[in-house]
Amino acid sequence: MKLGVLSDIHEDFNRKETQSNIMSILSKWITTKRPNVFIISGDITDSSKKTLALLEQLQKECPDTTILFVHGNHDIYEENSVNAYETLLQFPGNLGNGVIELNDDWVVIGDGGWYDYSFGVPDYSKSDFKKGTFNNFTWPDKLYANWAESDSDVVGRYTLKLSYWLEKYRDRNIVMVTHFVPYAKYVEYKDEPGWDFFNSMMGSKKFGQLADKYNVKKYIFGHVHKRYHEQHNGMEIICNPLGYYPYEWTHESAEEEITSAIKMIEI
Ligand SMILES: [Fe+2]
Ligand SMILES: [Fe+2]
Repeated sequence: MKLGVLSDIHEDFNRKETQSNIMSILSKWITTKRPNVFIISGDITDSSKKTLALLEQLQKECPDTTILFVHGNHDIYEENSVNAYETLLQFPGNLGNGVIELNDDWVVIGDGGWYDYSFGVPDYSKSDFKKGTFNNFTWPDKLYANWAESDSDVVGRYTLKLSYWLEKYRDRNIVMVTHFVPYAKYVEYKDEPGWDFFNSMMGSKKFGQLADKYNVKKYIFGHVHKRYHEQHNGMEIICNPLGYYPYEWTHESAEEEITSAIKMIEI
């Protein structure tokens, strides 16, 4: 069984910047390569309604591939992020709806997740991270994402849901998916305060702890716009973002960048 993996498509931004139809390139790739499943681990657009419409369109254009999705921080930029989360659940392949059984052995378990400052450098306090402003730059989620609870309570909500599913399927081979980073190893520490401060907003150790506890075989995430594909803690790690044109791309054309970025894994 073949699984295609991509995250951080940022369709709205990349379409404007490259004047290319990002989704039709993606849909052409899927219908040509025909993976059984295609997993998009968050950050499709800055609006739940736009993300939902693009997912529905993609699934319609690629009926032979099951499109699976978890939301990123950008997909829930709305006055009320709980409403945005619920809008996105209308997409049947949203892993927030429940566990997907690929076959008798393998299941996919995931949801977007959030961050709890557990990857933050120790030089700052929890209230600094809560404010999210450093050198006059405010982390965009602080302006555009609106949860009712604190960031760590949001993570608590996700870990509760994920651990319930993981426990239930603990005897199966598990592919776990979040948008946010599960291990500090995949957060870049540059020794530049203006960069390192924002590492607090990259993910949570709790997701990695759950993956370790339940012996997850493959872990797919995104959010950090840097690509990783390696073995870690006995699991296959796949972080496969498209990222922003032009600075995070290696090719000038959207077609080349997208087709070279997509990772195909097999189970
Ligand atoms: Fe992103
Ligand atoms: Fe993100």
